[in-house]
Amino acid sequence: MELLSKTLLLCWLLVLGRAAPAPQDAAEKDNVSEMRDEDSGPALPDRCAGIEFDAITPDEKGKTFFFKGAYMWKGFQGPAQLVSESFKEIDDIPNIGHIDAAFRMHNSANPDDHDRIYFFLEDKVFSYYDHVLEDGYPKHISEEFPGVSTHLDAAVECPKGECMADSVLFFKGQEVSVYDLSTKTVKTKTWSHLPACTSALRWLEHYYCFHGNNFTRFHPVSGEVNGTYPKDARHYFMRCPNFGHGAGYQPPECSNVKLDAITADDAGKMYAFAGPIYMRLDTRRDGIHAFPITRLWKEVVGRVDAVFSYTDKMYLIKGTQVYIYKGGAHYTLIEGYPKTLKEELGLEGPVDAAFVCPDQHLVHIIQGNRILDVSLTDTPRIVTRNLPFALTGIDAAYCDSEGVKLFIGSKYYHYQSVTVMVLGKIAAIAKPITSEMMGCRD
Ligand SMILES: *[C@@H]1O[C@H](CO)[C@@H](O)[C@H](O)[C@H]1NC(C)=O
Ligand SMILES: *[C@@H]1O[C@H](CO)[C@@H](O)[C@H](O)[C@H]1NC(C)=O
Ligand SMILES: *[C@@H]1O[C@H](CO)[C@@H](O)[C@H](O)[C@H]1NC(C)=O
Repeated sequence: MELLSKTLLLCWLLVLGRAAPAPQDAAEKDNVSEMRDEDSGPALPDRCAGIEFDAITPDEKGKTFFFKGAYMWKGFQGPAQLVSESFKEIDDIPNIGHIDAAFRMHNSANPDDHDRIYFFLEDKVFSYYDHVLEDGYPKHISEEFPGVSTHLDAAVECPKGECMADSVLFFKGQEVSVYDLSTKTVKTKTWSHLPACTSALRWLEHYYCFHGNNFTRFHPVSGEVNGTYPKDARHYFMRCPNFGHGAGYQPPECSNVKLDAITADDAGKMYAFAGPIYMRLDTRRDGIHAFPITRLWKEVVGRVDAVFSYTDKMYLIKGTQVYIYKGGAHYTLIEGYPKTLKEELGLEGPVDAAFVCPDQHLVHIIQGNRILDVSLTDTPRIVTRNLPFALTGIDAAYCDSEGVKLFIGSKYYHYQSVTVMVLGKIAAIAKPITSEMMGCRD
């Protein structure tokens, strides 16, 4: 499974690189090469030659920026360009020549700071939003982050849930200073088992320390490293000839997508399930990444039939079995589960799809051309309503404040509410699943 996960990581990184080339990249590329030709200046650095980056950070749109000296790369593919073209004030400080560290702020308590990119150069900190320097910057580091060193090596954000509180990890040599954004206090640890990180990145809730042309994944609280590291960044974080999968990989076409289930938990984490994998959809901004289902729900091997969330629990239905997991930092199977559908929900399997609408206590179960309601507050649970329904062959269903979506193959139907859906008076129109929704190819 670990191997599968890595293969998928690689695949989906390539997906990202290929699926989302920003249109301006091409234009900027032309500009840069024109400029080089005209000026006969130095050749642009090539990240596939193996670069030790000064800093790496995603921007507010989820694009990952890599920095080296006066140059930067936007996203997982494309040529180098000058930092000064995107962040001009950074270049105004004479004789520095490189960024020490950068991160994208995650500060739920302070929307004025949230999602800003922070750059560190010697003793100064710069804050940018949408490429515009925020008022009052640059500042001295101690003014914004009291207790944090100057001349840093790397920095990375760590939201509450992954760290104890919304925090920033600052790296200098083997010392890591954990800065708590709400209390403005620093705790310093020494992680001597980690290489000295010259840049650090949080990507899809994973933490990476970059050193040389390699990287090492670590746990943001314990610093623990699992698996075989270091790995060469060129296999994973950029598209390079003779590295990674090569050029042949294509993401699935949206017209070939077939979901098994889709749900969002109380914390707003949204999951799509297809075969033995799941994807997080709410972190879509930074890219879509496929993982084996067993990574989060150890006991559920292979494909699921339906998944729904109720209070802080997630219900995964597979054949005639129901697995109930308690949410939190990890999903833990509740003792005594799996149980049969009959025992848990008072109905026979298999089921096609299931969903609960926000703040409701009814689960709607779709079986063939029928929709069954079960009240989750009753004991024992029994089917309180069983109605025929206009559609059959539903793969997955989902309900949020905008209404109900039913998925059949690569199409979906949207209803304003369960009532509208069940009455079936207004024929819903099938719409195609888009790359915006699932990260597939349109
Ligand atoms: C790219 O070139 C066009 C004209 O060729 C120019 O208007 C534009 O400002 C240039 N962009 C950059 C980032 O240099
Ligand atoms: C990168 O990792 C490889 C082993 O995977 C190691 O041989 C090499 O020395 C490392 N390079 C740097 C610059 O850390
Ligand atoms: C490493 O593995 C242990 C045991 O499986 C796990 O508890 C821990 O969270 C893992 N750490 C990382 C960084 O994945």
